[in-house]
Amino acid sequence: MVKINDNYLKLPGSYLFSTIGKKVREYSGSHPDKKIIRLGIGDVTLPLAPAIISALHSAVDEMGRAETFRGYAPDLGYDFLREAIAEHDYRARGCAIDADEIFVSDGAKCDSGNIQEIFSLDSRVAVCDPVYPVYVDSNVMAGRAGNYDSDAGTWSDVIYMPCTADNAFVPELPDETPDLIYLCFPNNPTGAAVTKARLQEWVDYACKVGAVILYDAAYEAYITEDDVPHSIYECDGAKSCAIELRSFSKNAGFTGLRLGFAVVPKGLERGGVSLHALWARRHGTKYNGAPYIVQRAGEAVYSQAGKAQLAEQIAYYRKNADYIYKGLKEAGYTVSGGVNSPYIWLKTPKGMSSWEFFDCLLEKADVVGTPGSGFGPGGEGYFRLTAFGSYENTVEAVDRIRAL
Ligand code: MLT
Repeated sequence: MVKINDNYLKLPGSYLFSTIGKKVREYSGSHPDKKIIRLGIGDVTLPLAPAIISALHSAVDEMGRAETFRGYAPDLGYDFLREAIAEHDYRARGCAIDADEIFVSDGAKCDSGNIQEIFSLDSRVAVCDPVYPVYVDSNVMAGRAGNYDSDAGTWSDVIYMPCTADNAFVPELPDETPDLIYLCFPNNPTGAAVTKARLQEWVDYACKVGAVILYDAAYEAYITEDDVPHSIYECDGAKSCAIELRSFSKNAGFTGLRLGFAVVPKGLERGGVSLHALWARRHGTKYNGAPYIVQRAGEAVYSQAGKAQLAEQIAYYRKNADYIYKGLKEAGYTVSGGVNSPYIWLKTPKGMSSWEFFDCLLEKADVVGTPGSGFGPGGEGYFRLTAFGSYENTVEAVDRIRAL
């Protein structure tokens, strides 16, 4: 008889944002009169910028004419998009990344869940604690995480790198040597950023021990400080130890369109094998390419008009982040993040657990946030709010929280 992959049975509960979605649906069902403000999942609310809409329309029209119709996309992405990414996201920042090192996908969530497939099952994985749950859960599903300790909320074979107020939510190098190191900066969930000098230490460390850094830079568009790198390839030597994952969701509002990419440098090898070749093999086998119309929309992100319109959108969300940060700080909350990030990370008041504060906020203020403990044991006693709501809702949510 067929046997299932019983690693899935080890996963506790459901995916964090599914659990929150269910709780909020139930609350909303039993309180239909309440105006619930959602500052939980990091989902954008502004409509797509006009330059992107126009590119989508043109691409749809092309698909409707025999002479410009496109079938399967090239599995690694259209050259026009890979070139635009290499030029604007990398070469413009002094990073020598070529278009053929870019692998276009349907988003950074999928890439960050799938990338572990090209590494051996006995690889030791290191993650920040708290951490975006996809990195851990995908390794659990693969059978790389060991057993779950429900009291500690940790996996026996995962190396946890605590991110606490004491280290400004930027982890120290681990005591045990990992093979794969997941880093996300600006960080989800804490909103912390890493300086180039600190990131260089990680690159040097990974090169020294032969580890590979899986660097999630989905939130780079929110960086405001000069010494914070937008890409890990701004660090010397990163092309020989790092894969970078990027998204069009947070910088251009593609959460519903779906588009992202991974950068796997051609010279990145382990055990004499090119990781670029492995990821190309995996991508070619399991993926048929992001839709043409979406890739044309992605190209428009780099147009002059697209850049100007998206800068306004980012400024809008940054204003929200600033409002939450300052409003809660003034009200006596301990807050961080928000400066280089759309996420504000706050300490729960009165010693409440993360989920207690979630319930309190939902029931007393009709505001949804994300409990820090959903991101790992290090998030207990913390709470995340996103700046991706409308300005009006953000102001109202902060006022309601202050009035608690
Ligand atoms: C989050 O809220 O952490 C993110 O929106 C989740 C994601 O990007 O998948």
